[in-house]
Amino acid sequence: MKRLDGKTAVVTGASSGIGRAIVERFVAEGAKVFAFARNAEALKALEAAHPGQVIAVSGDVTRQEDLKQLVETVVKHAGAIDILVPNAGIARVVSFDDSTAEAFSEQFSVNLFGAAETARLFVPHIRQGGSIQFITTFLTQVGFPGLAIYSASKAALKSLSQTLASGTLISGRLCRTSQVSCIHAESRRKTRQSLHFHLWICFRRIVQDNRRHNDVWLSNDCPAV
Ligand SMILES: NC(=O)c1ccc[n+]([C@@H]2O[C@H](COP(=O)([O-])OP(=O)(O)OC[C@H]3O[C@@H](n4cnc5c(N)ncnc54)[C@H](OP(=O)(O)O)[C@@H]3O)[C@@H](O)[C@H]2O)c1
Repeated sequence: MKRLDGKTAVVTGASSGIGRAIVERFVAEGAKVFAFARNAEALKALEAAHPGQVIAVSGDVTRQEDLKQLVETVVKHAGAIDILVPNAGIARVVSFDDSTAEAFSEQFSVNLFGAAETARLFVPHIRQGGSIQFITTFLTQVGFPGLAIYSASKAALKSLSQTLASGTLISGRLCRTSQVSCIHAESRRKTRQSLHFHLWICFRRIVQDNRRHNDVWLSNDCPAV
């Protein structure tokens, strides 16, 4: 019996990096995973590599119609879910001179509003005891040149996550929410093995954060530690 046997998960930003690695880890633990991102080709390859366990749904988290389509597909195929990981995110290096409203909007629309809307639309479809796992960054706690907008978007997401984790009861369903500070997880330049190692560290952080917040990772299922 694997730890996520019988569980259904949704992972956004699943076409590469951390999101893809989360999908692969969940699948290895027995879950069925709906993988969402814009790159349909990459998602199809992921689906083909895990027939019956990964279902690819392409779309953009900044487009509400795409998110609604994702929810509809998931509800049609699975009824409800146990785990939601709104992982899709972008990090742009932007000087303060260039930090216009448009520059803020670009990153906030994905990192904050995209993640929040993904969660908001899925809450009614998360099973009792299910969980939402937001992905934030250690940069919410330290400054880094050029990443002010990115860090601010993730700090806002962290605040949202903490507020939800303080005891959310929405539509009669209890949703536990936790946050993670990835220390270094990507990716394209690294080997798959290296990425999984960093993801493992990342999930250890989740568990530590969960203990601190008296929260539970994946509703008592911890896939990577
Ligand atoms: N790498 C790190 O060290 C690190 C550290 C802390 C936090 N994080 C966070 O971890 C998450 C994953 O980052 P990563 O390093 O794995 O980055 P990545 O390799 O660039 O992956 C980002 C993923 O998000 C998707 N995405 C971006 N914009 C999207 C949109 N508008 N709609 C739907 N999907 C979108 C991308 O897919 P498509 O392009 O196909 O849409 C891709 O699958 C992000 O939230 C990031 O902020 C990363």
